[in-house]
Amino acid sequence: MPASKYIMDSAPDAITRINGEDYLYFGGTSYYSLHKHPSVLEAAGNALKDYGMLSATTRLGYGTTELLETLEEKASGFFGTEDTAYLASGFLSSMAGVQALQIQEDFDLIFLDELSHYSNQDAASSVEKPVYIFDHRDFEELKTKLKEFVKPGQKPLLISDGVFPVFGEIAPVKIYLELLEPYNGILWIDDAHGMGVLGTHGRGVSDLLDIQSDRIYTGGTLSKAFGGFGGIIPGTRKFISEIKKGAVMNGANMAPSTALAASLEGINILRSEPGRKEKLWANARYLKQGLRNLGIPVNNTEVPIAAWETGDRKHMENIREKLMDRGIAIQFMTYIGAGAEGVLRIVVFENHSTEQIDFLLSELKSLL
Ligand SMILES: Cc1ncc(COP(=O)(O)O)c(C=O)c1O
Repeated sequence: MPASKYIMDSAPDAITRINGEDYLYFGGTSYYSLHKHPSVLEAAGNALKDYGMLSATTRLGYGTTELLETLEEKASGFFGTEDTAYLASGFLSSMAGVQALQIQEDFDLIFLDELSHYSNQDAASSVEKPVYIFDHRDFEELKTKLKEFVKPGQKPLLISDGVFPVFGEIAPVKIYLELLEPYNGILWIDDAHGMGVLGTHGRGVSDLLDIQSDRIYTGGTLSKAFGGFGGIIPGTRKFISEIKKGAVMNGANMAPSTALAASLEGINILRSEPGRKEKLWANARYLKQGLRNLGIPVNNTEVPIAAWETGDRKHMENIREKLMDRGIAIQFMTYIGAGAEGVLRIVVFENHSTEQIDFLLSELKSLL
């Protein structure tokens, strides 16, 4: 991927400094702008004083701090699980999760949504099992492939994102679960964009779809909604202990103290201020309705991501540039799930005002 010509000069927020200028920012994904929240910064600063930058060892060595244990305990409270594993990145969550599932569940084959995030793809190939790719969110195709490829006595693992990062679509997890039931199959969901955003408790896609099942395993990130940094896997004590024994957890340094402390404070804020979610959802609905009014076909979910493609890269780059000229930063992106020509992508934050969203919509209208 080419390096960006845009240099961010401030924390991500509704107004963000880029290349020395302030922009109305829709570039994602600090959904609540917590990465600059005063108490998040204070917690990170205190951790730096107390622990220095890093333990410089793994958690099997002396890398387990009280801060790490408190973070995992608070995360378990947030997600309503027995335990939680914190990792140095969300990207690693999928690999740690799928490798632990291989040991715990001994699955035989994998079904992978074709547009699953890179981290899910790498996780699938890290366990040396046959991988069958099915069309994006296509449960009919999945059904056919399950029938065709699962032999008697075999256990399938389905891997998918919970919320896909480019278009923000939600995976039909409930249907997947039903389809996997006759095979005693299990699911790994990378819910990096759902956690902290979706559902009554902000626990992600399962919370939104009201799914309680011991056949779903989920990982995600604290680097987006929570205003911190790092990967997160909430789960049963048994599953988490498997992850904590694994190579991904123990083959790398624990994340910097600032990342742990900021993440912990972000969790505390989202737990004690549930109204933030409603504001974010309202902004997502308002933005998406406004885009549909302009004839842009975006979904109507509460996911704060809206993206579309015109089929012409130059045209899309031009729209992005012209918006930049008017003081608005949206994304033109090529990423997994974006077609060959790329997409225009807008991410709305909880603290964008209606006026700011209206300004974006009216400038976009004049360009289209
Ligand atoms: C769907 C998805 N999974 C995983 C990740 C990786 O998370 P992290 O940035 O914490 O490594 C991302 C990052 O953007 C993502 O979009």
